[in-house]
Amino acid sequence: MKVTMVMVSSIDGVVSRHSEESVKAWTSEEDQRHLAVLVNHCDAVITGRKSFTKKIAPVPYYVFSRQQKSSPKDNQNQVFYTQEKPSQLLVRLEKAIDNVLLLGGPEINSLFLKENLVDELILTLEPKLFGAGKHLVQEEIEQDLELVEVQQLNSQGTLLVKYKIKKTVE
Ligand SMILES: NC(=O)c1ccc[n+]([C@@H]2O[C@H](COP(=O)([O-])OP(=O)(O)OC[C@H]3O[C@@H](n4cnc5c(N)ncnc54)[C@H](OP(=O)(O)O)[C@@H]3O)[C@@H](O)[C@H]2O)c1
Repeated sequence: MKVTMVMVSSIDGVVSRHSEESVKAWTSEEDQRHLAVLVNHCDAVITGRKSFTKKIAPVPYYVFSRQQKSSPKDNQNQVFYTQEKPSQLLVRLEKAIDNVLLLGGPEINSLFLKENLVDELILTLEPKLFGAGKHLVQEEIEQDLELVEVQQLNSQGTLLVKYKIKKTVE
């Protein structure tokens, strides 16, 4: 199974200015299209309760929440709220699922990175500076990455960078 973290950030590393603001308010059309393609080609999405608004592709969504439980309607729509340890969830999904996208937010990214569970980061860099806001990861963490690919998505200078995450040996 491969776990790919997919996020969009300003050049100064901000992924969210205010918790109520959707990233669509400041991301390029090209980034939104790229995300839609990735989600439509994955086997499952993992995200956090504060990031999840609605599904954008007909794949199962696993949404981390300590409080929210899946209703019968959620189950029908393949939206599964979970409180499992990230590693337990991945072990449970492993047999049926190959390609998982981790779509944030920073709190859930931290959970997965701390457990050494992320294989790849696909990051869109929008040519903006925000100064303040939430970063890709919410806690102090050090992680080495290896560049795989860089692509320019538009004439404004939106960049798509793909990094392999070097797994730390415990
Ligand atoms: N730029 C991007 O690419 C991007 C992508 C995604 C999100 N965002 C932004 O990021 C912000 C939200 O990120 P966030 O870090 O505040 O929240 P988040 O990671 O989306 O979700 C946090 C929630 O996850 C649940 N949770 C956390 N730890 C858990 C655990 N150990 N077990 C079970 N559930 C757990 C809790 O839900 P409960 O409170 O329900 O218990 C917690 O409130 C939004 O502003 C969003 O727009 C940006």
